Amino acid sequence: MAKARTAYVCSECGADFNKWQGQCGACGAWDTLSEIVLESAAAAKSPASRRSGWAGKVDAPKVTALKDVRHHEDARVTTGIGEFDRVLGGGLVEGAVVLVGGDPGIGKSTLLLQAVAQMAATLPGLYVTGEESLAQVAGRAARLGLPVDGVNALAETGVERILEHAAALQPKLIIADSIQTLWTESLTAAPGSVSQVRESAARLVRYAKETGAAVFLVGHVTKEGGIAGPRVLEHMVDAVLYFEGDSGSRFRVLRAFKNRFGAVNELGVFAMGEKGLKEVPNPSAIFLSGGSARQPGSCVMVTREGTRPLLVEVQALVDSSPLSNPRRVAVGLEGNRLAMLLAVLHRHGGVAVGDQDVFVNVVGGIRVQETAADLPVLLAVLSSLRDQPLADKTVAFGEVGLSGEIRPIPNGEERLKEAATHGFKRAIVPKANAPKGGSYKGMEVIAVERLVDALDAA
Ligand code: TYD
Ligand code: MG
Repeated sequence: MAKARTAYVCSECGADFNKWQGQCGACGAWDTLSEIVLESAAAAKSPASRRSGWAGKVDAPKVTALKDVRHHEDARVTTGIGEFDRVLGGGLVEGAVVLVGGDPGIGKSTLLLQAVAQMAATLPGLYVTGEESLAQVAGRAARLGLPVDGVNALAETGVERILEHAAALQPKLIIADSIQTLWTESLTAAPGSVSQVRESAARLVRYAKETGAAVFLVGHVTKEGGIAGPRVLEHMVDAVLYFEGDSGSRFRVLRAFKNRFGAVNELGVFAMGEKGLKEVPNPSAIFLSGGSARQPGSCVMVTREGTRPLLVEVQALVDSSPLSNPRRVAVGLEGNRLAMLLAVLHRHGGVAVGDQDVFVNVVGGIRVQETAADLPVLLAVLSSLRDQPLADKTVAFGEVGLSGEIRPIPNGEERLKEAATHGFKRAIVPKANAPKGGSYKGMEVIAVERLVDALDAA
């Protein structure tokens, strides 16, 4: 057998190097390179007998005209959970490898156990648990009242043994819970280390591509928000889904961060309850803090995450600061953007908050990444500063430019429709997004071109 080759991999960005060095040459991080053993070519080869897809045999690799390649758009299997299907891009695809990340205790194991049980009739599944005992998994399935016929479970962390069992059992769906507990004999590094996680994941990815079985990898997220250590995993898999949510709230949001088979930023919303995760098919209502009397410092916006509009509430608290360098804190929004917006508010809106602490939060633990939040953020800040609530049943959206202009955002009409459906009466929107006539389905639409107009309207 050929001598094992080694490489040095950065745990931050996943770049490979031939030699160890103190600083990663790609991303500049210090002391992040660790050694991994690369498999010899012989070991990487797999027996052709393992090849069989959901839709029958998969041929050995050969050059083929692209137009002749058999492809199956309909080879999606529903997970039995509508919101999960939505995030996956309309169901699970044959041979897909999906990384599900999130904080410990957020509900990753629960969701995947529910999914594997619901899919068992169409896709016989193998639930590999490296964290819980088989009795714990079975106990949870029983408590949740899940149909477990056709679901096999395995308490094992060695990838070689997992693949042996898989080869014998031929499951069409494998859940690896979690990838951080898996290890391969070909490496001496400890389980959970970058090299082990990367190599274990690589084996499972290869298995999925060869056999057409779908694989879910569960990954714990570090405090910084990355999937523990290996960002590398994000490049290797077809889709990366993150579970987000307030620890205090029972609502959970599953977001597609990367998806080769669907829209990114697509959200699935769930509520954690007695019987596990229940889908919330109409999530707009839950992200509003409730209470019909509006409070100062609150503005409802219509965001569009993935392919669906969503009403969320942005809250701001502006308070005189004892610090010489007042605080700007954004939760669920980008911090730098908040600082920029406050500068625009001063320069073009004539509202100074330089001596104030400014805290901005998106209700419900949801993260809003789009610029449509700019205008709602500033309206919430102004409302808090003046200690006056916005008019009742008002929504807003729009991007704020550095010269104080309000710029249009995509899918304006769809957002207005969502607001009208939920009983809103007034909308403050960019001029280019406003319908002619100043109203939409009985809702007054105030078109604004400049930040000052928007502040006047509010
Ligand atoms: P779990 O799926 O084990 O989280 P993860 O795999 O992401 O670490 O979820 C565990 C949490 O969910 C735990 O705090 C208990 C809660 N839970 C419920 O509230 N109801 C339920 O029916 C289940 C199964 C769990
Ligand atoms: Mg778990």
